[in-house]
Amino acid sequence: MTEGFAAGIRTETTSSVTMTRTHTPPAIDQQTQARAMRRAVELARAVRGRTSPLPPVGAVVLQGDRVVGEGATAPPGGPHAEVNALAEAGERARGGTLVVTLEPCNHMGRTPPCTEAIQRAGIARVVVGTRDPNPRVAGGGLKALAAGGVATAVGLLDREAEALIAPFATLVTLGRPFVTAKWAMTLDGKIAGPRGGESITGADALAEAHRLRDRVDAVVVGSATARIDDPRLTVRPAPPDGRQPLRVIMDSAASLASDARMLGEAGSTLVMTSRESAADRARLERAGAEVVRVAGGPEGRVELSDALTTLGARGLAHVLVEGGSRLLGALVAADLVDEVVVFIAPRVMGPGVPALDPPPEAGGVLPWTLDEPSVRQLGPDIMLHGQRPAAEGG
Ligand SMILES: NC(=O)c1ccc[n+]([C@@H]2O[C@H](COP(=O)([O-])OP(=O)(O)OC[C@H]3O[C@@H](n4cnc5c(N)ncnc54)[C@H](OP(=O)(O)O)[C@@H]3O)[C@@H](O)[C@H]2O)c1
Repeated sequence: MTEGFAAGIRTETTSSVTMTRTHTPPAIDQQTQARAMRRAVELARAVRGRTSPLPPVGAVVLQGDRVVGEGATAPPGGPHAEVNALAEAGERARGGTLVVTLEPCNHMGRTPPCTEAIQRAGIARVVVGTRDPNPRVAGGGLKALAAGGVATAVGLLDREAEALIAPFATLVTLGRPFVTAKWAMTLDGKIAGPRGGESITGADALAEAHRLRDRVDAVVVGSATARIDDPRLTVRPAPPDGRQPLRVIMDSAASLASDARMLGEAGSTLVMTSRESAADRARLERAGAEVVRVAGGPEGRVELSDALTTLGARGLAHVLVEGGSRLLGALVAADLVDEVVVFIAPRVMGPGVPALDPPPEAGGVLPWTLDEPSVRQLGPDIMLHGQRPAAEGG
């Protein structure tokens, strides 16, 4: 039996599942479940950027209406959220409810199936935010639990739960990372003045941009931005765990300077090339970068879908592309952008670099509209955020 939720939440029954449970677990009110799921979402959000190729998941164990265990996905190779929450609950998990943002896994990965740990712990009911999009799980976790006599329910806070796993869903279904395109522009759509370099937005927008970096696996820029701005591409201030996202430069000829500031920063730099000389490759490797050659596209430039697939094969689920205009324009023209975050400063630049500059061979970009965009004010600036509608996405 799979329980459903009240109005507005998906309800379903898996009548084909054999019930082996002999008693119905004690009911818990919807408010307690919703509160636990909100906490599970919070726990999952806190580990974004640290779990790939696994998704960030949060889990809460309830005994009656009391929270007796909490957990989030550990870095790769470590325990899943459910196992962490069950470990904290110990014997208090018996007969309790597990509230978890994502369907528990039912297959042997780097760690044993969570469905087994849940049953061993004596959990009576599992409440899930959303199903696992991974074809290896796809409903199997819920079925295994139900077959083991655990009551299951799906769809509580499903929008929040789905948003958490959007990068993972893109990775397992398309084999490439989820791409967030971010830029800061003036009212006349310029991301830099004629000489580049200067900051477009104020301190609050900048702080938000650093929080975005903290949630992704990699930050990506084009070779011209690396040359003109000499960015560090780090999260500042550094997060408590010191983790920095991978820095990726789309740099066909491996032209990144050996003394680029990013090469002296904590974390790693990956230079993606398509036509570099052996000398430049060796030079950058000596300077501490990793150089990876991918397919060349028009004019020998890095072929972006091949570059993204290469990042996906390394288990990167979410990249933040920060510009400049030619790289962003090429990604939009190739339909490789899943989400957009744009900061708009209340000023006119005059002559400068446009936000999107697609390559001539692309013949421009196709029109589309962000899905349910949100708007926030950050000091004097505006942040516009939204996702590319899924049905049209590529
Ligand atoms: N306000 C903001 O949010 C923001 C953010 C970043 C940058 N910027 C500004 O943007 C300006 C630089 O923008 P930009 O358009 O000149 O350069 P860009 O987009 O940073 O870099 C373009 C270069 O990336 C390399 N690249 C590799 N593969 C590519 C592909 N498939 N498609 C497109 N480019 C590819 C190409 O050089 P190779 O042939 O050498 O590979 C290309 O010339 C700077 O002034 C900087 O200050 C502003």
